[in-house]
Amino acid sequence: FVKAAPYIAAINKLKVEKDAVILAHNYMTPDIYHGVADFMGDSLQLAIKATEVEAQTIVQCGVHFMAETSKILNPQKTVLIPDIEAGCSLADSIKASGIEQMRAQYPGAPVVTYVNTTAEEKAASDICCTSSNAAAIVRALPEDTIIMAPDQYLAQNVAREVPEKTIVWWEGSCVVHERFTAQDLRDYKEWNPGTAIIAHPECPPDVVDEADFSGSTSGIIKYVMDNKPKQALLVTECSMASNISDEVPEVDFVGPCNMCPYMKKITLEKILWSLHSGETEVHVDPELGKKARVAVERMIDLSN
Ligand code: 13P
Ligand code: SF4
Repeated sequence: FVKAAPYIAAINKLKVEKDAVILAHNYMTPDIYHGVADFMGDSLQLAIKATEVEAQTIVQCGVHFMAETSKILNPQKTVLIPDIEAGCSLADSIKASGIEQMRAQYPGAPVVTYVNTTAEEKAASDICCTSSNAAAIVRALPEDTIIMAPDQYLAQNVAREVPEKTIVWWEGSCVVHERFTAQDLRDYKEWNPGTAIIAHPECPPDVVDEADFSGSTSGIIKYVMDNKPKQALLVTECSMASNISDEVPEVDFVGPCNMCPYMKKITLEKILWSLHSGETEVHVDPELGKKARVAVERMIDLSN
């Protein structure tokens, strides 16, 4: 934080001058999360927050699909992302043509698209979901067969939670969460009995099976705050434990974590540059944005 302090001061000053707010995902590094963010949250919370922002500019500290979602919901605002290369392996795994291909394969089945997609795939779908509401969205749809895209593991985890539906999925995956294995967790539990294992639902189902709790990034934070386990293994991105460790000093965060190479592209230096230069602005074609907005707003309405 000593090296970070001048950046934090400059960003917080410039934010006011430029009438900007910083929306930060829970995977941002602690200097961003605690130093400059105006609002922190999971994908659903950030999307909802984007609809409430009064400032003219949103600086999205997260990955590109999150900035695009803010722009879709708030087209009159300027949305900046400090590094345009901050992508997502899930968003890269599918195109709108993939959704059309699945519709042809399962006629009449609605498409539930994870928010970790570009505006094009959102526009091609019936409704969006995030990891915090995926099961509820699927349950609420009247059809028996549901297409979920693009995260195969989120879909498989939801299929187990909602056994009354037939769920079919696209074969995408998250490069961070697919790397955890059930054997790693079984070994860990054997060597460290009593450790609370808390996994994100982008992990494969056999990994989730080894966990005491599975939920979105904010669900994970809430579980730790509410339960304050003596030892906790967060089976997700590394910054999660760093961001909350000060608030729960009684919890010992242990074990392996994986870094998201895309989230880690966002740094204090780039946030400062972004505020100074107005780069990089995220644009969404207005017609496409309108269609995508229907799917995102349906999700927000169903989540309330
Ligand atoms: P959350 O909605 O749980 O924050 O997940 C977003 C994400 O990209 C996790 O990898
Ligand atoms: Fe995408 Fe996975 Fe990174 Fe989340 S953690 S942004 S799903 S690559």
